[in-house]
Amino acid sequence: MPTTPHRSDPTTPTAPGAGPRMRAAVHERYGGPDVVRLADVPVPTPGPDDLLVRAYASDVSVADHRLRARDLPRGMGVLAGPVVGFRRPRRQVLGMEVAGVVAATGPRVTGFRPGDRVVAATGSGFGGHAELVRVPASGVVAHVPDALRLDEAVALVFGGLTAHKFLSRADVRPGTEALVNGASGAVGTMVVQLAAARGARVTAVCSAPNADLVRSLGATEVVDHLTQDVTALGRRVDVVVDCVGTLPLARARRVLRRGGTLLLVVADLAGTIGAPFARLRGVRAVTGDLPTSAADLTELLRLAAEGTLRPVVDRTYAFEDVVEAHRYVDTGRKRGAVVLRILPEVRA
Ligand SMILES: NC(=O)c1ccc[n+]([C@@H]2O[C@H](COP(=O)([O-])OP(=O)(O)OC[C@H]3O[C@@H](n4cnc5c(N)ncnc54)[C@H](OP(=O)(O)O)[C@@H]3O)[C@@H](O)[C@H]2O)c1
Repeated sequence: MPTTPHRSDPTTPTAPGAGPRMRAAVHERYGGPDVVRLADVPVPTPGPDDLLVRAYASDVSVADHRLRARDLPRGMGVLAGPVVGFRRPRRQVLGMEVAGVVAATGPRVTGFRPGDRVVAATGSGFGGHAELVRVPASGVVAHVPDALRLDEAVALVFGGLTAHKFLSRADVRPGTEALVNGASGAVGTMVVQLAAARGARVTAVCSAPNADLVRSLGATEVVDHLTQDVTALGRRVDVVVDCVGTLPLARARRVLRRGGTLLLVVADLAGTIGAPFARLRGVRAVTGDLPTSAADLTELLRLAAEGTLRPVVDRTYAFEDVVEAHRYVDTGRKRGAVVLRILPEVRA
């Protein structure tokens, strides 16, 4: 599918001896949105098994907020520190997702060619908020179907992969009763849709202004967390998905039937350590950094292309407005994804 050619090719050195440069959103210290700035940085060098992707769209997710602000669930800083950095960020270029066009491929790459429209999760390596992004061809990367724009595709990745991997650890089938806490966020909007697509009866927990949104995604009941006690539903469910961190085992048990499954998308250190022992209390608890794959991403894209899964985009910001995008994500009130437009995609 043809796309607008880029303004200039940042892979080409501009002066003799100078390496190729590009713009990227970087942070050199932890803090509020203002620690982020657009900087001129070297273009990453793709290895023999890598793609170099010219970015059109990315998103600012809660993971960017967490890394930028070093705002991790209680106790998790100890585990994350060696990866993200203790005193200063080890990953200076933020962004865990990218959608764009393959600009170059390493000599050993098969299955991708320059010009292909792709979307990828860069994972804990980050680096997605840049004009050019290095992606291992064996990583979580997939072709974007013609039916989807690149900004739509990128909006699926963070929430969709998370929802997919957690739901794969529960028995969700026609008639399953599921309760989704934080149903209007990036992860929650995907959990609601994927669970409903499997035939579950979904009770969505969010604030009243987001009730129509979650119903449109497949929720059959909505609980307003600002006015109702989520654990006093008056019935028990088979699966609880906590995308907020306010339904740890002790609270979730009040609404979970015996033998049910608690999917802790957010858990602090105590919740993570305690998860295997939930069985002693008659339920299963799942948490942690679950693996994901290119096949999972391809499946999400297929569902979106056929109309089963809707990318939910709250706001779109120009790359230059990345600080404003962080400010909005920091409110904790976004609905679905916040997209960062790096280049406009114009399609024939
Ligand atoms: N374990 C993993 O692999 C993994 C992967 C990805 C994300 N996560 C974690 O998952 C969490 C959710 O991520 P996200 O991207 O979905 O966040 P998000 O998009 O920022 O979530 C925002 C939503 O949360 C809702 N919310 C806020 N407080 C709430 C409350 N007390 N009760 C119910 N809903 C509430 C808001 O709804 P209202 O405005 O309607 O209240 C808003 O729509 C993050 O903590 C993230 O770190 C974990």
